[in-house]
Amino acid sequence: MQRSRRRRIYEGKAKILFEGPEPGTLVQYFKDDATAFNNQKKGIITGKGVLNNRISEFIMERLMEIGVPTHFVRRLNMREQLVRDVEIIPVEVIVRNVAAGNFSKRFKMEEGSPLPRSIVEFCYKNDDLGDPMVTEEHITAFGWAAPEDLDDMLHLTLRTNDFLRGLFRAIGLKLVDFKLEFGRLWENEEMRIVLADEISPDSCRLWDIKTDEKLDKDRFRHDLGKVEEAYQEVARRLGVLPAAGPMDLEGPRTVQ
Ligand code: CDP
Repeated sequence: MQRSRRRRIYEGKAKILFEGPEPGTLVQYFKDDATAFNNQKKGIITGKGVLNNRISEFIMERLMEIGVPTHFVRRLNMREQLVRDVEIIPVEVIVRNVAAGNFSKRFKMEEGSPLPRSIVEFCYKNDDLGDPMVTEEHITAFGWAAPEDLDDMLHLTLRTNDFLRGLFRAIGLKLVDFKLEFGRLWENEEMRIVLADEISPDSCRLWDIKTDEKLDKDRFRHDLGKVEEAYQEVARRLGVLPAAGPMDLEGPRTVQ
């Protein structure tokens, strides 16, 4: 099997990156593995990888149409997509429209309280340190990103938030918060900041507008049940649920 011979570049909690078929590309493989609370909780969400592959593809494509550059090239199969090989900036950009999760705890604000305006937070991507929250000062002082890079990241983040809020609202979902990652892409001696990683119910909080039902990874984090169904419901509303339906969601397994 060709898959087993491919060079594995990086294995994360929910995805594996393999060497791509041509220089400057990688294959992003979506696993069913789920983790929460900095790896303390682990589990499997059957079919998640197949659905996140589709959901992230759909969102990245819509973003590219409005001029947000991303690492996405094309879907390869049920669990894999071809992406550009970028240098990941070790900063997680979190956007919050409504109080939830960590933010609710920190500010003792009830989950679901609307925020006066969208709030952007940064975390340093480092599992050993538990992804600590940082400011622009830390990011530039430690050289994780230059001030110009940060400007681009912030601009792309706000544009993405505006666009995705509308996109989800149109299918009856509230975009409570989400996390973005960016990378540096070199093209003919020029460097561009592009959106990388994934955008999916793993990295967004999505609530039903009418019922406030959670349709994202919080169902796994807090053992709310119907986890698989929540991911399927998001895919269904976006119109990207694989035609064969849930029976098809296991997809091919990666050869370790
Ligand atoms: O998820 P938790 O409550 O620990 O953290 P949060 O800071 O409230 O998360 C804000 C948003 O970013 C949620 O939609 C998370 O799913 C997402 N996030 C993520 O995808 N990856 C992380 N390492 C941290 C947050």
